[in-house]
Amino acid sequence: MNPNFQNPTGTVFSVERRKQLLDVASELGLPIVEDDPFSLTAFEGAAPSPLKSMDSNGSVLYIGSLSKIAASGLRIGWLVAPHSIVERLADARQQMDFGLSVIPQQVAAQFIRSSYFKPHLERLQLQLQFKRDLLIESLQKELPDLVRFTPPRGGLHLWCKLVPEVHDGKLLEEAIKKGVVFVPGSVYGSDSGFVRFTFARPKTEEIGAGISKFAEALRELIT
Ligand SMILES: Cc1ncc(COP(=O)(O)O)c(C=O)c1O
Repeated sequence: MNPNFQNPTGTVFSVERRKQLLDVASELGLPIVEDDPFSLTAFEGAAPSPLKSMDSNGSVLYIGSLSKIAASGLRIGWLVAPHSIVERLADARQQMDFGLSVIPQQVAAQFIRSSYFKPHLERLQLQLQFKRDLLIESLQKELPDLVRFTPPRGGLHLWCKLVPEVHDGKLLEEAIKKGVVFVPGSVYGSDSGFVRFTFARPKTEEIGAGISKFAEALRELIT
């Protein structure tokens, strides 16, 4: 599970729900995999502490990643778990692809320890917040009353409810014709009528233009 800035909704699990989840997992003897690639992107105050920090009986396996904060191509992350589990997973990975070369791992470790890492994160957080705000302003300008969303406080995505009833797949077809793409909510198993926008990848000057095209596509379907 992904308690901080969940992909795709951006939701943050409350402390109360975290406690409930840990209680249920421990009652049933179930492990929890805490998949946390977004906490270090938090741009409005620090992200809530990981579930792992509340785990008193070692049932949470915590996974972090450089994919969303440095380079997805590195395919490097970290795991906090009991030693026996780390060993078994390392063995499984070894059997899958003989393991990742140690050189990129050493580069990543050096980067994380270096004096560049903290300023890098601060710059990233500011840029993400700036782009999130641009996206929100563009949506408010182009589609007032036609979309609803909660501004995410971290992560790379904005989850958006379309007020008019439209099929998200048809909307995607229309949007592609206009030259813009988004991920339809149904890809994630949600009801139709939700879309996920990603604000990390586009350049700042592309965000307003992209939302104009999206708005044209939406209007075309509802008129
Ligand atoms: C919740 C979540 N976990 C993990 C990943 C991927 O991380 P990695 O590239 O380290 O496998 C993603 C990427 O989309 C994600 O959204």
